[in-house]
Amino acid sequence: MYNFDFYTPTRVAFGKGTESRLIGLLNEFGGRKLLVHYGGGSVIRSGLLGRVQAMLDEAGFDYVMLGGAVPNPRLSLVYEGIDLCKKENVDFILAVGGGSAIDSAKAIGYGVANEGDVWDFYDRKRQATACLPIGVILTLSATGTEMSNSSVITKEEGWIKRGYGNDICRPKFAIMDPTFTMTLPDYQTACGCTDIMMHTMERYFTNGGNMEITDSLAEGLLRTVKENAKILIKDPQNYDARAEVMWSGSLAHNNLTGCGSDGGDWMPHQLEHELGGLYDVAHGAGLAAVWGSWARYVYKDCLPRFRKFAVNVMGVAEEGTDEEIAIKGIEAMESFYHEINMPVNLRELGINPSDDDLALLAHKCYVAQGGPRGSAKPLDESDMLEIYRMANK
Ligand code: NZQ
Ligand code: ZN
Repeated sequence: MYNFDFYTPTRVAFGKGTESRLIGLLNEFGGRKLLVHYGGGSVIRSGLLGRVQAMLDEAGFDYVMLGGAVPNPRLSLVYEGIDLCKKENVDFILAVGGGSAIDSAKAIGYGVANEGDVWDFYDRKRQATACLPIGVILTLSATGTEMSNSSVITKEEGWIKRGYGNDICRPKFAIMDPTFTMTLPDYQTACGCTDIMMHTMERYFTNGGNMEITDSLAEGLLRTVKENAKILIKDPQNYDARAEVMWSGSLAHNNLTGCGSDGGDWMPHQLEHELGGLYDVAHGAGLAAVWGSWARYVYKDCLPRFRKFAVNVMGVAEEGTDEEIAIKGIEAMESFYHEINMPVNLRELGINPSDDDLALLAHKCYVAQGGPRGSAKPLDESDMLEIYRMANK
C-alpha cells in the first residue's frame, strides 16, 4: 500500500428537513455577503430556491443571485460570477443544485480569491492559493463535488473541458436531503448512479497499492449503488434508496474508496471529458458509453482486479479462466447499464463521430493529460484513439 492523506473537512447535514440548518451553518462558517449560485431553474421549479431566499431574508443576510450554470458548466458564466462577486464584495458562495452549479461556484471562488485568469488553474499553468468559502445545498447525487476537492469547467473557445483539484475549494458544509433528488428525471438519476460507481471504479482498477479494507468499502459501495439504482428505476420516490445513493455519491469521491492505492486510473473520466466538451453529453451517460470499450482494452493488464470486481461486485461465478471471469464481469456491468437505460457505446449515447472527430478527441484527451495516463494500463494517444473507435459502434 501507499501512504495517503485523507482530508474531508466538509460538515455534512444529511437527511429530511436539513435545509433548516442553513442559517446556523452560514453563521458557523462566517458568510455575511453571499452569492447564491444555481443552475437552469430546477431549484426554482421545486420551490427550494424560494425557501432558501426566505430563510436568508428572515435572518437578515445580504445576497446576490446568479443562475444559469449549465451541465458541463461554462467558463463565461464563471467570469460573470467573478465580476459580480468583486463588485458586490461577496465573501461566501452558496451553491444550490447539482454538480455543475457547485463546480461553477468553486471556479468563481478561485477567481475572486486569486489574481489573474482563473482558467490558468484548469490549464495546469499555476496553482490557486485561496478560494472563497463555499456552502452547498445538493439536489443531484452524482459528482461527489459536495465533499471533493475538484471542479470541472468547460471553456467555450475550443470546447475544452478540464478538471482542477485543490483542497482549498472543499465545501465548508453540504446540506444533503435525499428528497431533493426526487424531482430528477430518471435519466439524470441513472447518470448520477453511473458517475458515483465510476468514481469508485476509477480508484479500484489500478496496479498499485490496493488495500483490502479499501477494496471492501469500494465493493460494498458499488453493490449498494447498483442495487439502489435498480430500485429507483421502478420507484423514484423511494426515500431509502435515494438516501443510499446520495451518501454513496459523497463517499465515492471523497477518496474513502481510494486510500492506499496509487491514485486511481481515471482514463474513463478523461475519455468522457472530451465527449462532454465537444458534444455536451451528460457526464454519467458519457462514462457508461466508453467504459466497456476501455475495460476490454485494458483488462488483461489488470486481470486480478477485473476478476475480483466480476466476482465481488457483479456476482459472477468463479468458473473458467481468470480472463473468462473478467470478461463476464464487464458484460454484466454493461447489462446493468442497459437495465438503468444507460448507453454502452457512442451510438447509444446519441453521437456519431467521424474518423477525424475520433482522432481529434484522442488528441485533445492526450494533450489534456500531458502525456500517457492510466494505472490499469497506461494509455498513449493511439490507445485512446483505439478505445474511441471500439466505442464508436
Ligand atoms: O440546471 P438545473 O435546472 O438545475 O437542472 C439540472 C441539469 O439539467 C438537473 N437537476 C439537478 N438537480 C435536479 C435537477 N432536475 C430536477 N430535480 C433536481 N433535484 O439535472 C441536470 C444535470 O445537472 P448537473 O448539475 O449538470 O449534473 P451533475 O451533478 O451530474 O454534474 C455534472 C457536471 O459535474 C462534472 C461533470 O463533468 C459535469 O460537468 N463532474 C464534476 C466532478 C467533481 N467536481 O468532482 C467529478 C465528476 O467526475 C464530473 O466530471
Ligand atoms: Zn465523474
